[in-house]
Amino acid sequence: MSFPIVVLVSGEGSNLQALIDSVHGKEVEIVAVGANRAEARGLQRARAAGIATAVFPLTDYRARDERDAALAAWIESRGARLVVLAGFMEILTPGFIARFPNAIVNVHPGLLPAFAGIHAIEQALEYGVKVAGVTVHFVDEGIDSGAVILQRAFELPYARDIAVVEQQVHAIEHELLPRAVSLIARGKVSIDPSEPRWVVIDE
Ligand code: GRF
Repeated sequence: MSFPIVVLVSGEGSNLQALIDSVHGKEVEIVAVGANRAEARGLQRARAAGIATAVFPLTDYRARDERDAALAAWIESRGARLVVLAGFMEILTPGFIARFPNAIVNVHPGLLPAFAGIHAIEQALEYGVKVAGVTVHFVDEGIDSGAVILQRAFELPYARDIAVVEQQVHAIEHELLPRAVSLIARGKVSIDPSEPRWVVIDE
């Protein structure tokens, strides 16, 4: 079997769709899709592709730690070697992160370390930056602070219509995330032993 991954979503799931369309059944096998909300459209996309799904709403648990422990156990039971956060809009607890060392990745709609957090595109527009972009990074205990795997920048047009910029960002995300996942699955991504922030891509 190819490299098993689990994808976590909260909403639309367009990045999940990009993974399904470009790497699923090839370099990787998406063995399951998890969500924190039953309404996440990503769950429908997964089902349409014949992928198992499960929902882990915080409200079903007494504490976030408990929810994350259940989520981690489910991911492990699926045999995943990589957890992909594709628009999963919650911060995972340190206990969860520790269970998947260097095996959780996230896609962020900005050029980190600028504009971490959930309003990256709005903040970039408000700031008036001339270059925006996308980052795929490993997940650590901080907010969008893990080691960078891939980044791509683009020049912002003067027309600062947020919907237009979002579209440009998403188009890049849909290429960059599958590429990063494919590189990891093919064993092309490692961390420099002398400096854990330096990710080496061996293409
Ligand atoms: C993406 O912009 C991603 O960078 C951010 O959340 C958004 C998810 O979009 N983390 P989708 O659900 O994949 O369409």
